[in-house]
Amino acid sequence: MIQKLGAVAALMLSGAHGLTGKRGLCYNNDNPSKDAVFANLYKGMDKVTWAYDWGYPSWGLDSSLEFVPMLWGLPSDNGSGWKAAANAPGVVNVLGFNEPDLTYSASSNIPPEKAAKGWLNYIQPLAGGSVRIGAPNVLWNNVDSSSGGDYDTAQWTEYFLAACTGCHFDFAAIHYYQDCVTPDGQNGAVWFKGNVTDAHEVLDLPIWVTEFECYGDEAQQIAFLEEALPWLDEQDYVERYAYFGTFPEYLINKDGTALSALGQAYATI
Ligand SMILES: *[C@@H]1O[C@H](CO)[C@@H](O)[C@H](O)[C@H]1NC(C)=O
Ligand SMILES: *[C@@H]1O[C@H](CO)[C@@H](O)[C@H](O)[C@H]1NC(C)=O
Repeated sequence: MIQKLGAVAALMLSGAHGLTGKRGLCYNNDNPSKDAVFANLYKGMDKVTWAYDWGYPSWGLDSSLEFVPMLWGLPSDNGSGWKAAANAPGVVNVLGFNEPDLTYSASSNIPPEKAAKGWLNYIQPLAGGSVRIGAPNVLWNNVDSSSGGDYDTAQWTEYFLAACTGCHFDFAAIHYYQDCVTPDGQNGAVWFKGNVTDAHEVLDLPIWVTEFECYGDEAQQIAFLEEALPWLDEQDYVERYAYFGTFPEYLINKDGTALSALGQAYATI
């Protein structure tokens, strides 16, 4: 009952800006049924309210979770599939390119000017409509070479924003990956909090942390979340976050049948 009241209160509070809650999931359909079965294990866990899968469609995401479509990179077709996904009933937020600032195989790796051009074609037309638009998902604590240039992610973002003339963003989207424990033995959440705060100060937009993970064993990751999640919940400018990731040996157990201890912690902290 208390949980139910909590969910209703959260819904009423969030109604003003179209957000249902902060905690979400990044999931994939890499399972025998090729669907959202991993994410759907969170059904009924009131603190988890939204999910995305680095693309569209949602592969049967439970309707109790808000699906947020993402345009991962420049579309290989004419963009009609993306347009339909972004305008689908129930869609109120959309995410843009995934790690265009990076050059490894799972990143979209797009130089800033090219990314801006694609943005103007495929995402900016949604501005002024019924969906809120997230800026490109970039690895904020990256200080090495970035897509198409020898500069860091903050610079990639600066060049992208300068080239994206008239583009409208409702929120920024960042990623963060680092050790759970700093070399001097502190909880790595101290670095994480520093990076999230810095992104907000530099970009001056509400923040979604669309991927974050600390490297360490399960107990260390839980200790990190125990410090990071209450802090994220307290910051007004942090609208949403999703810990990496909703698949086996991360938030889901090895067999893919239930939440792992880490996944339970993510649902309940
Ligand atoms: C885009 O491609 C789809 C599927 O190939 C096609 O049905 C549609 O007519 C195309 N739209 C435009 C505007 O070219
Ligand atoms: C961001 O995280 C890195 C670790 O990847 C850390 O060295 C740096 O101090 C953090 N930045 C801030 C502003 O806290």
